[in-house]
Amino acid sequence: MSVESINPLNEFLDLLRDALSRDVCWGITLSQPHRKVGENPSEATTKLSFRPIELAGERRYQLAERRGNQEFHQNLAAEKVIARVTEELGSRFFQGDLFTDEADFSARIRHDGNGQLGRRRPSKSAPVVEHDRRKKYLIPEGRPCPFLTEIGVMTPAGQVKAAKQAKFRQVNRFLEFVDEILPELPISGPLRVIDFGCGKSYLTFALHYLLTELRSREVEVIGLDLKADVVNDCQRIADKLECKGLRFEVGDIAGYTPNGHVDLSVSLHACDTATDAAIAQAIGWQAKVILAVPCCQHEVANLMPTEQLPGLLRHGILRERFAALATDALRAEYLETVGYRTQVIEFIDLEHTPKNLLLRAIRNEGSSKPASRDRYEHLKSQLGLSDFALERFQQPR
Ligand SMILES: C[S@@+](CC[C@H](N)C(=O)[O-])C[C@H]1O[C@@H](n2cnc3c(N)ncnc32)[C@H](O)[C@@H]1O
Repeated sequence: MSVESINPLNEFLDLLRDALSRDVCWGITLSQPHRKVGENPSEATTKLSFRPIELAGERRYQLAERRGNQEFHQNLAAEKVIARVTEELGSRFFQGDLFTDEADFSARIRHDGNGQLGRRRPSKSAPVVEHDRRKKYLIPEGRPCPFLTEIGVMTPAGQVKAAKQAKFRQVNRFLEFVDEILPELPISGPLRVIDFGCGKSYLTFALHYLLTELRSREVEVIGLDLKADVVNDCQRIADKLECKGLRFEVGDIAGYTPNGHVDLSVSLHACDTATDAAIAQAIGWQAKVILAVPCCQHEVANLMPTEQLPGLLRHGILRERFAALATDALRAEYLETVGYRTQVIEFIDLEHTPKNLLLRAIRNEGSSKPASRDRYEHLKSQLGLSDFALERFQQPR
């Protein structure tokens, strides 16, 4: 039943606080969004829903935020849920639904703040609260995996060592990203992959394992690095484990010439502008997919004139972090200008490393869009830059 209420928002928030304090909130939905003038529909948030979950023994609420046809998730404590609902209901969203043990409450709020608050019999019963699910990894714990044993992550029996759990998750997370883009690569014939700045190469070995052992593909995987001792050690392990089609070479990314086409280019934590050199090379070879997890970034930090954004850029740490984000935005836009569909996504949880962004670029079969060139140039000029490493590496030498 709905009744006219002079302050449905406050009443709804009181009910919400009460349900959260008693752990009997089975869900919240905010809908009926107000569209801002000029807002891009694919970027506008159209719905927020919260559901209870349990993380490390604590009650949390998973927020699903719908933007365009994508959904973004984060886990929030109860007080953050209250803060978010308070901020959004009545300003961005005009309908709020709260599901509790005793009733479903529904607030419809008009622009003047008045509206209705309805109450119905509860439609939801206490959910089976999901506990930290054991993730189903591509390389599961318990199955011996030779390269993980060799690099000290697993015991020969397949148990992940306690101190190596984070690395184990990182390897698996990386493999999920690679597995997701496999449909973009040629479906038959050997796959040619290059890993720029492979370092100790645990991710290169993981990539090779995924393609050959789990996906039964014939491959040529090359790990390239400047450091001869590291490369020699990786080659020794590859020979010992008889990794067919995997080899390591000493060389500089910018000067490297492959002896054929490249399907997939990977650069993981390649230092500073080495990421730009890797992306530029991959663009030049028209690699079908480019995966880049950038590392430290100094170039843009040094080039941005402080007058451009004085309040931000005069603080060293903010300048550094802003430059890293700006650089990744420029890289993503630049990739779009040369015909790659590009996404910037979270690689692994921030708790493991602050360098946690992945650029995933997939070459379009059609031509690039002029709008992306405008966006790229506009961003460059907003940042006060006349030069950018990726563009420079791309120019014919
Ligand atoms: C931080 S490590 C990352 C290693 C590995 N990709 C990972 O994610 O664990 C960066 C590696 O990139 C290599 N590197 C940096 N600049 C390079 C360049 N211009 N050419 C080839 N390798 C480079 C370094 O020698 C180093 O081994």
